[in-house]
Amino acid sequence: MSGLTRFGVSLEKGLLEKWDGLLRKKGYSNRSEALRDLIRAELVKKEWASKNEVVGAITLIYDHHKRELVNMLTNLQHDFTGLIFASQHIHIDHHNCMEIIAVKGAPHKIEELSDKMRGTKGVKYGALSMATTGRDLE
Ligand code: NI
Repeated sequence: MSGLTRFGVSLEKGLLEKWDGLLRKKGYSNRSEALRDLIRAELVKKEWASKNEVVGAITLIYDHHKRELVNMLTNLQHDFTGLIFASQHIHIDHHNCMEIIAVKGAPHKIEELSDKMRGTKGVKYGALSMATTGRDLE
């Protein structure tokens, strides 16, 4: 971490109390660490709004017995090979599967793949976790 800078923040008392309560619930040991996380989250949001390279994870839950579903999801992954750098398939129970697909690339391409997968008929749940390469964060 490059040199630390201290600065003062003025807040309404009630707002600060609410924030401190939230930090306790979340397990933060101090306000600085919580504020760093807030700032990082905003910076990651900005990264996803740009054309820079980002990373993320697409999580899908589906019933592998559904006809054509597995084929369609596999075909999509083959259409976006440049974007996918790892994936994991977990058999949850007799019917349900979880697939976690790690992606790296342009935000709009990742969102396109995520939307197509989540929109595939038979997918019960889909989520895109927007992360960062970490290069521009401290
Ligand atoms: Ni499975």
